[in-house]
Amino acid sequence: MSNNLSHLLGRKGINKNLFEELGKAAFETGTPKQEALDKLRDEFLVGKSTVYGTVSFYDFLKPENKGKKVYICNGSACMTAGTQDNLHKKLSANYKEEEIGEMCCLGRCHENSAFHIDGKNYSGNDIDDIVTIRKEKSTTKERYNVGFKGSPILTSEYGSIKEYYKIFIDCLKQSPDELIVELKDSGLRGRGGAGFSMAFKLESCKNVASDSKFIVCNADEGDPGAYSDRYIMEQRPHELLMGMMIAGYITGADCGVIYIRGEYPESVDIITDCIEELIKEKLLGENINGGGFNFNFKVIKAQGAYICGEETALLSSIEGQRPEVRVRPPYPTQKGLFNQPTVVNNVETLANLPFIMKNGGKAFAAIGTNKSSGTKLISLDGYFNKPGIYEVDMGTPLSVVVNELGGGFGKPVKAMHIGGPLGGLVPVDKINNLTVDFDSFAKEGFLLGHASVVCIPEEYPLVKYIEHLFKFTAHESCGKCFPCRLGSVRGYEMMEKAQNENYKIDYTLMNDLLETMETGSLCALGGGLPLPIKNAMKYFENELAPYFKK
Ligand SMILES: Cc1cc2nc3c(=O)[nH]c(=O)nc-3n(C[C@H](O)[C@H](O)[C@H](O)COP(=O)(O)O)c2cc1C
Ligand code: SF4
Repeated sequence: MSNNLSHLLGRKGINKNLFEELGKAAFETGTPKQEALDKLRDEFLVGKSTVYGTVSFYDFLKPENKGKKVYICNGSACMTAGTQDNLHKKLSANYKEEEIGEMCCLGRCHENSAFHIDGKNYSGNDIDDIVTIRKEKSTTKERYNVGFKGSPILTSEYGSIKEYYKIFIDCLKQSPDELIVELKDSGLRGRGGAGFSMAFKLESCKNVASDSKFIVCNADEGDPGAYSDRYIMEQRPHELLMGMMIAGYITGADCGVIYIRGEYPESVDIITDCIEELIKEKLLGENINGGGFNFNFKVIKAQGAYICGEETALLSSIEGQRPEVRVRPPYPTQKGLFNQPTVVNNVETLANLPFIMKNGGKAFAAIGTNKSSGTKLISLDGYFNKPGIYEVDMGTPLSVVVNELGGGFGKPVKAMHIGGPLGGLVPVDKINNLTVDFDSFAKEGFLLGHASVVCIPEEYPLVKYIEHLFKFTAHESCGKCFPCRLGSVRGYEMMEKAQNENYKIDYTLMNDLLETMETGSLCALGGGLPLPIKNAMKYFENELAPYFKK
């Protein structure tokens, strides 16, 4: 059924897609009116349940969102920083309670106290100017450090567009097969979490014959604590755009779709402006630079759902279907967006392509380690003395990131949650055992993931943090498979009861629950959540003991 729907929803092409139309219909009131939904379902020839299923899924479209004027970030970093209760109090003095909603996460993890008004994000001390912000709809400037240790592939300046895009023009003079060789030599692995080979993905899409193919950039950076993709989009946007154009040339795709989370309004604006710039420079469109290659971009602003970062849910989302995870195979490279061959890659992965094409795959592979080549961007939260985005060669000791680049912790910290909600919980005494690369983290029983760092301070109860993780998963679960849909809720209930009632958690029951989620879930949301919880139960057994049966 969803297979047919994908075809049907692609009928009008990417530029007129149901998902965007639903977003437009919700613009004024926060949720689309029934008449608007009826009109759209007639126009797109889909049933009431399809449109309802979509609208009721997203934080920014669903009826509960109606009338909200300000949104407080409820992501992990703002939560452990303990800034949001005070923020709520101050906002309550300016807004009615029913006008205050929640968003997760605004990517302002470096200065916390984050909130969103009228399509703009605020953080740090901005709340103290709330009266002016509300009256004048003014913007403020966030501050975070940017630095590197080793090779600044992604953090160095790239100069003028004309000069920089010579790399792409040179690519057009080579065959896609020649470029694939460079990519293979580079050993580049996906930066979105799974570490999958980029060359393999592009080659398999290239090898499928089709008149229509897509390069989709996954810019749904939903991991609380992560803002490195946002950094690239806002401060190095052409690394990403050129990376997508190169990927398009290699695979034979003529359309690049950038799916950017709605919580990053500034990224949407900057990327849109940069695409305009490329059009003006005649670097997009038909027969670019006479090289016989056509390419255009489409920016899609998401509507608030963490699961849309999972690549198949993301494709369903763009199509306007309820973003449920799809069973693989078929893989997106064979049957992706609107059933056409599609490459889905993370922002940071794609942003590495210009460097590889300019310097050669071997030069890239010479940086980092054998199995994790190149560099990695790391996002440090507000507990560090120097919070910010740091680029390090893969293989750099974690202690260098924490102590040298991040300047150490501002307050006592007991653990770092690295790699998003599905990443490992690293106790601080393990810092010296780890280097920043896929293998070191896997060997020690953690996960590098997207390399975001959320600190858990000494005084923050881990039982509360685990409760937060279960609750987050329960809220974000797409509901397709029961281990995640039910397991996350049961886990949340146990943690909640253990704190508030005369109830102790049964170890065997909890372990069974975690095993079921880990082995039985369709995707890494339900399948990945047990990792940080198991880490917490292993490394913080004494702290958690009072909540468990003896
Ligand atoms: C629940 C969940 C959320 C995800 N969120 C993101 C995300 O925000 N950004 C991202 O690039 N990948 C995310 N992924 C991984 C994607 O499914 C996919 O592996 C990735 O986009 C592939 O790109 P890469 O090979 O360049 O890493 C997520 C996966 C899961 C299971
Ligand atoms: S694990 Fe959760 S999010 Fe993933 S498919 Fe199953 S229900 Fe959906």
